[in-house]
Amino acid sequence: MGGFLNRIRQEMAAESGVDSSAIPGWERNRRPRVLAVDDQPAFLGLLKAFLSGLNVDIETASDGVSALDAVRRRPPDLVLLDINMSGRNGFEVCRAIKSSPATRLLPVVMITGRTGVSDHVLALEAGADDLLPKPLIRAELVARVRSLLRLKNVYDELDDADHVIFALAAAVEAKDNYGEDHTERVALTSRALGLRLGLSEPQLDTLYRGGMIHDIGKLGIPDAILQKKGPLDQAETVLMQTHPLVGEQIVAPLRSAGSLREIVRNHHEHYDGEGYPDQLKGDDIPILARIVAVADAFDALVSDRPYRPGRTSEEAVGILRDGSGTQWDPQVVALFATELVDFHTRLRAG
Ligand SMILES: [Fe+2]
Repeated sequence: MGGFLNRIRQEMAAESGVDSSAIPGWERNRRPRVLAVDDQPAFLGLLKAFLSGLNVDIETASDGVSALDAVRRRPPDLVLLDINMSGRNGFEVCRAIKSSPATRLLPVVMITGRTGVSDHVLALEAGADDLLPKPLIRAELVARVRSLLRLKNVYDELDDADHVIFALAAAVEAKDNYGEDHTERVALTSRALGLRLGLSEPQLDTLYRGGMIHDIGKLGIPDAILQKKGPLDQAETVLMQTHPLVGEQIVAPLRSAGSLREIVRNHHEHYDGEGYPDQLKGDDIPILARIVAVADAFDALVSDRPYRPGRTSEEAVGILRDGSGTQWDPQVVALFATELVDFHTRLRAG
C-alpha cells in the first residue's frame, strides 16, 4: 500500500520526459525559435538543413555582437553557438547570455571543431548547457535540440507567477483544514479521470494544475467561515460562494492561465443549472470543471471535516450516485464509481 502516491508522482515525472515526434508542449503554443550563430555561412546552411525536419523557426547571426543583439531584441528559445568566431568568441557570448537575468534560462549549445577536454571545460564554465563536436552528427544535434527545447518549454510554463500560485494553493490547503495532500489527490484523480475519458495531453496537464489550484479563491474567505463547525448562515454562504470568482481573478494574469480559469471559475456549477457562479447547465459546463467537481467532491466526502468525520468510500460513492445528473455529470460519476475508487483509496493511504 505505502508509497503509491510517490509512485504516481514518479510516473508523472517520467511521463513528462517521454520522447515523441513533436516537441512536447510547443504544439499548443507557437513554433520555437532557434538562433544559430557562426561566421561561416556554409555551416549555418548545414545547421538549417539538419534541423529542417523539426517544427522550429531558425534565425542566424554571423558574429557574437549581432548574436547578442538578436538575443536582447527578441530572445530565442535556444542558441546554437560556434566557439571559434572573430570578434567576440562563443565563450564570451555564452557568458553574456547566462549572466543576464532575462536570458539566464535560455539554453545554449556550443559547437566546437576541436577535440580534447579544454573546450568542454571552458564551455561548462561559460554556462553552456551542452557541447557538440564537429563534424556534427544530425541525429545527435536533433536529439539535443529537442530535449533542450522541451526543457525551455517547462521553464516558460513554470514562470515565477506559477511558483507563487502553487505556494498560495498550499496556503489554501492549510487554511481549509482538509488535511494533507487534499489538493494533490484532487489533481491526480482529475487527471486519471481525464485520461480514461480520452482527453489530450495538454488537457490532462490542465486538469492536474487546475486540481491543485481550483480553490485558490478561498484565500479571500475568512478562516472563521472556512473552519466553522456547523452549517453556514445565509450571509456566510454568499461570501463563501464568491471563491470561484476571486480565484479566477488570481489566476487570470498567469501566462498559462487558459483553461485553468474555467476550472477555477466553474467547479461549483451543477449539471442541472443550479450551481454557481454562472448557473451553467449540462455540457455547457466546461468538461475540465465537471471532472474536477467530481474528484473534489469525493475527496471532501471521505475527508474528516470540522463538523463531521469522513464518510466511507461506499457512502461517498452513494452520495455521488444520488447527485448524478443533478449536481454532477453522470458520465464522470459513473466512470469514477466503476474505475477510480480504488485508485483514490490508494492515494489516501499514501
Ligand atoms: Fe471550491
